[in-house]
Amino acid sequence: MSLTDFQNARPETAIVLGSGLGAVADAFGIECEVAYADVPGLSASTVPGHAGRFVLAQHHGKPILLAQGRRHLYEGLTAHEVTASIRFMHEIGVKRVVLTNAAGAIDENFHVGGLMLITDHLNLMGTTPLLGGPNFHDMSEVYSRAWCERFHAASVEMGLKLHAGVYAAVLGPQYETPAEIRMLRTLGADAVGMSTVPEAIQARALGMEVAGISMLTNWAAGLRAQTLHHAEVVEVGKTAGMYLARLLKAAV
Ligand code: HPA
Repeated sequence: MSLTDFQNARPETAIVLGSGLGAVADAFGIECEVAYADVPGLSASTVPGHAGRFVLAQHHGKPILLAQGRRHLYEGLTAHEVTASIRFMHEIGVKRVVLTNAAGAIDENFHVGGLMLITDHLNLMGTTPLLGGPNFHDMSEVYSRAWCERFHAASVEMGLKLHAGVYAAVLGPQYETPAEIRMLRTLGADAVGMSTVPEAIQARALGMEVAGISMLTNWAAGLRAQTLHHAEVVEVGKTAGMYLARLLKAAV
């Protein structure tokens, strides 16, 4: 299938799959795929665990676009560059997007391997995709309350514990120090990660409805005796990704 066929399918809903969550696409049944490298303006991720392709699937009789893998600021890209996929989605008619990611748990009531619905964020990345113009967009409800309620209802029906909280986005790529995690907790963060926020800002600025879900792959630095490794983050994402797939299928 060519890029044009992909565009002609006109999916209205998209899901961005974060670190280690690429397999969630299999749960939706892959109809066809196109590599980011084949989309003008996009390029493949350099991060292990990020595939770098769009997948088209059918869900409840409608086309749905899944983005397997994303670009990050810590790869040395600008916020404008890492959000090219969101502008592409908007161009082909996507109206709502679920952004998923792997994150470190800061709230002690959470559990590793669990999921957190993002209710709001802290942009601590020092940049934004809207840089360069008078783009004074309202950000008082980045994550759609209506969509949050649907996710919550679906989790209750599934008997799945769905945490909810504030996602703090940091630049990375190094993990945080224990002192940084104490600071983030003081600032009101419940989880920490290195993605999602530029995409959420770009999507809202384009008028898209946004939802965000974090897979809690590890305790944030200093909360447990541990050393953080990317391979573990990807591994936990794989195992717990099945729950995420079920939740997405029920609530989207
Ligand atoms: N910190 C930042 N990003 C992350 C983490 C973390 O602990 N886990 C997964 N992504």
